[in-house]
Amino acid sequence: MHQHDGDAALHPLCNSRDLTDGGQAVPFDVNHAGQTCRAFAIRFRGLPHAYLNRCAHVAMEMDWQPNRFFDDTGRWLLCATHGAVYEPDTGACKGGPCRGGLIKIELTERDGVVHWRSQYPFSPVEF
Ligand code: FES
Repeated sequence: MHQHDGDAALHPLCNSRDLTDGGQAVPFDVNHAGQTCRAFAIRFRGLPHAYLNRCAHVAMEMDWQPNRFFDDTGRWLLCATHGAVYEPDTGACKGGPCRGGLIKIELTERDGVVHWRSQYPFSPVEF
């Protein structure tokens, strides 16, 4: 864990250039309420966003190919299994069989690095 500007809750996730608008996601792991979960970060309209890799419909991972969450237009996030559609910047459900939305993880981007913020119920995975 890094003490960085006194903010121990920030964890480096990837370099800013690893996230291109509407492009491939970067996967990472988080501890969510005591369980290790897969999560992913994407960039949309310039800003990075991250969510648990878990569909709101059925608790399944969403990517249709590894790290592919966006549709062909780069406008929506998709669940591969039954076609739920999510807003990339909020995780809100916009169609399909899902209810609610994706579980969002706070990100901070600075000095060319994207960090995720551990705050309840998220914490780092202990190795
Ligand atoms: S599991 Fe994602 S749409 Fe059904």
